[in-house]
Order: sequence, then structure tokens, then C-alpha cells
Amino acid sequence: MKKISLLAMFTLAAAFSVSAQAADRVGDFTLIDNNGKAHQLSKYAYNKALVIVSQATGCTTNQENIARYKQLRTNWDHRGVSFVMLNSDVRDERAGIRAEEAVWKYDFPILDDETQLVAESLGITYAGQVVVVDPVRMNVLYRGPLPAQPANAPLGQVLTAIVADGADSRQMETVAVEAEGGAGAGCALEFPARDANLADVPDYETEIAPILIERCVGCHVEGGIGPFAMNSHMMIQGWSPMIREVLMTGRMPPMQIDPTIREFTNNGNIPVEERQKLIHWINAGSPRN
Ligand code: HEC
Repeated sequence: MKKISLLAMFTLAAAFSVSAQAADRVGDFTLIDNNGKAHQLSKYAYNKALVIVSQATGCTTNQENIARYKQLRTNWDHRGVSFVMLNSDVRDERAGIRAEEAVWKYDFPILDDETQLVAESLGITYAGQVVVVDPVRMNVLYRGPLPAQPANAPLGQVLTAIVADGADSRQMETVAVEAEGGAGAGCALEFPARDANLADVPDYETEIAPILIERCVGCHVEGGIGPFAMNSHMMIQGWSPMIREVLMTGRMPPMQIDPTIREFTNNGNIPVEERQKLIHWINAGSPRN
């Protein structure tokens, strides 16, 4: 199939470099926003695109751009594009996110990516970064700053392409815009858990198995109500893609409660560090050791 190359159409300011490559795929995820509402990527499938703006408390790039985020939404939301913010800053808690929203009136749902796992999967590195995802095919189509003139820049080109009749993101690429030297155009985010788990992959026997025994094996045992038994490394390795999906969407363990609002939602009761360990271990190939 022919790839549509958007690059040919771009004219760019010299301070940024643009690259395009086969589209990155993301898995489904569910996160809770600043108002306690759950957002699942696949539930945005009635949209042609979801624009995700990375946000952090106190980040001046976000604060200065509020009016321009809203303008972008005004220009695109009637064409099938939805907008959310994503807070993946390790220093931010839900209460702080709410306080920031009360002061700055972002007026976008701010999804709380407390594990940072969604930012990692989207390739987000700084607050102020904008990511465009096709929620049907789960392809990342744009990753970069909010340009001064979005309509004439890669961001506008990508949105125009994905909202077009008959658009198919499988024939599109991930367009990445970076400031010269690979730097971000916003507030850098740190990923301490990912860095630690990359440098020292969690150990199957002493770290991973104990989490599964405590959180999952009660049901996922021979004769249990779970559809498969987590009774060997091979079994767990084989089910790893599904385990990652149910963890990222908060489907497992069942009936989780959002502790900050005391309502039933489906995300959150496995501690942050445990979810990070499991996902980082799976991303590393679910090694035996
Ligand atoms: C309270 C019992 C229970 C616990 C605890 C539990 N599960 Fe499950 N799990 C189930 C049941 C029942 C199903 C099948 C129905 C469903 O998919 O919701 C299931 C399905 C699954 C599936 C298959 C999903 C699919 O779509 O085929 C995976 C993967 C999974 N669980 C992983 C986990 C992991 C990982 C944990 C621990 C973090 C866990 N489960 C904890 C009961 C449980």
C-alpha cells in the first residue's frame, strides 16, 4: 500500500526538525481525570482523532498557551477531533492538578497518568508536547509542540489528513517535530521508575511473582474463576500482552475503587510501583531472569 508522505507538504521554521516514520501503535488505556471521570482511549472511537496535550503543574508552556489550545479545539472539535490534557509529572498529585485547573481554567479534562505509563507509551517527553492519536486504529500520527500557526504546520496537516473522508491511519506515518538538537519545546518530564526498571529489569521470582500472587492468583488459579491459571513463567509470559492491556485499562483486578473520590471506577487499586514493575517487565519481554 502506498504511504502518504505528508512531509513533502511542509514548510518549517528553521529551529525545528521534522521526521516521519511508520506509525507507532499504542495500546488501549483508561485514566481518571481531575473530576474523577474515567477516559478510555478506545471509547473515543467515534472521533477521528484524539489530541492529547501533555500538562504539568506550574509549566509555563501550558499556562501561556491556554488560549491557543482552546482555539485549536474550536477549529477542530466540530470536525470529529476531541481534546484532553494528560498530566504525567511524577511530582503532581490529583489535588494539585485540580488546584492548577482552578487557577488557570484550562477547561480540558486533565487525565492523571500517575504511573507515567501512558506518557511512556505515547512517547511523551515534556509538558507542552502535543500528541495526535487515531483512537480506532490506535496509531500515533503527530508528536511535537503546538506550532505558532497550526494550520500551516505539520500538526494542522496531520489533522486535515485524518479527518478527510476515507482517511485510514494505517497508511499514515508518525510525524515527529523536535526542536533543534532533539530538545523539547516545553517543560522536561522525568521518568525515574522507567529509568530504574530499564537499568535493572524487575526480577521475575522476587519481584513479579509476588505481585501476581498477591493481586491475581486468588482467581487465576487452577479451578479458579479467572480464565487461565498463572501457574508458570511460561503461562505468564504467553499472557503478557493481555496482562498489559488489562492493567493499562484497569480491568484487572476487577472492581477497583478510586481512592481520591470514593467512587467505583475501574482504575487504580494496584499500587503505582507495582503497575510500573509489571508493565516494564512485560515491555522488557517478560524475562525469566
Ligand atoms: C476477583 C477475581 C480476579 C482477580 C483478583 C483477577 N482476575 Fe483476571 N480475570 C478474572 C475473570 C473472572 C476473568 C474473565 C472475565 C473477564 O475478562 O473480565 C479474568 C480475565 C483476565 C484476563 C483475560 C482478559 C481477556 O480479555 O481475555 C487477564 C489477562 C487477566 N484477567 C489478568 C489479571 C491480572 C494481571 C490480575 C492481577 C493484577 C487479575 N487478572 C486479577 C478474575 C480475576
